[in-house]
Amino acid sequence: MERLLITGGAGFVGSNLAISLADRHPDWEILALDNLYRRGSELNLPRLEQAGVEFVRGDVREPGDLLAQAEITALIECSAEPSVMSGVDGDTGYLVHTNLTGAYNCLELARRDGAFVVFLSTSRVYPVAPQVELALEEAPTRFELAAEQTIPGVSPAGISEQFPLEGPRTLYGATKLAAELLIEEYRAGLGVPAVIDRCGVIAGPWQMGKVDQGVFTHWMLAHHFRRPLSYIGFGGEGKQVRDLLHVDDLVDLVERQLLDRDAWDGRTVNVGGGRECSLSLAETTEICRRLTGNQVAIGSVSETRAGDVPVYLSDCAKLFGLDEWRPRRSAEQVLADIHEWITTDEDRIAEALNIDAPAGGRE
Ligand SMILES: NC(=O)c1ccc[n+]([C@@H]2O[C@H](COP(=O)([O-])OP(=O)(O)OC[C@H]3O[C@@H](n4cnc5c(N)ncnc54)[C@H](O)[C@@H]3O)[C@@H](O)[C@H]2O)c1
Repeated sequence: MERLLITGGAGFVGSNLAISLADRHPDWEILALDNLYRRGSELNLPRLEQAGVEFVRGDVREPGDLLAQAEITALIECSAEPSVMSGVDGDTGYLVHTNLTGAYNCLELARRDGAFVVFLSTSRVYPVAPQVELALEEAPTRFELAAEQTIPGVSPAGISEQFPLEGPRTLYGATKLAAELLIEEYRAGLGVPAVIDRCGVIAGPWQMGKVDQGVFTHWMLAHHFRRPLSYIGFGGEGKQVRDLLHVDDLVDLVERQLLDRDAWDGRTVNVGGGRECSLSLAETTEICRRLTGNQVAIGSVSETRAGDVPVYLSDCAKLFGLDEWRPRRSAEQVLADIHEWITTDEDRIAEALNIDAPAGGRE
């Protein structure tokens, strides 16, 4: 029988995985471990309970919190300080100990039990400077990656796993890449089977979006509650682009990986919506306006923040060559689902995320 531990299980990705997998596999025992560090993650506790997922309050930085669990068959590592801005103020300890020591502690538990590990990594493992220098074309509402590039592993379809890894990538990206390297060693030398999913932006309901993490939810929240926004960096016109993957599409992939672990063991793949499912901020604004009926003031800051990149699209050709999984939900669908979630639970969300009542009252 499957006994699955999801670390960061009260977070956005972790809770959606736990609840969907519990629904699809009633015979699986699923535990969600989380220290509730992320503001709003406590909103997921009643959902977990209702789905029959056992919640364990624990901290991945503490080996004892993990090793106290009875034997598991699989572990999905979703705990993190996932902000690209984290550590820039010099306070690096929480980030490094959660993302790297935490991953190490998860690997030790997986080694104890011979459990299969699914590691939620990030496109942020790719270094920043070469991405800032990519050749771009400027379309009316977005930047596009040009066909001619001087760096390997990049094309109009996005960035592939061939993209060079030399150079700084933000502390967040560095902790995730360092964890990937640890996983490689635990696989090769210590018998821990594992797959690494390098995800672009994941989005959908129950993401406690904020300006530095969960940008699509942040944008929709601002429109719903009529709070001002800013296009920051790259000329301040909102032409920067990200691909986005509906969290339910990610659930579909991770389920396939859990069900066929021999096929996935040892793989590192980019996972994302790709060019097909991508949006610029300016395009996101249009959809948010349409869905909410609200127009908010959007300022412009032309100066680019350290660590930011103008375009990120996941080139998933490697993944598509391995499996028939494909993203099925469109970018518009992702935003519509986020909007519906906010609309149905607005008071609790506003309170949990400390969002003020909208200026001038709600429409
Ligand atoms: N959301 C995205 O766009 C995205 C993109 C790429 C990769 N990822 C990765 O996916 C994973 C999940 O991200 P998310 O978007 O769900 O973030 P999230 O912040 O919603 O979830 C992370 C959870 O980890 C918990 N946590 C933090 N520190 C902890 C600790 N020391 N011990 C135990 N729990 C702790 C938080 O309370 C939170 O509930 C992360 O590993 C992240 O790096 C996310």
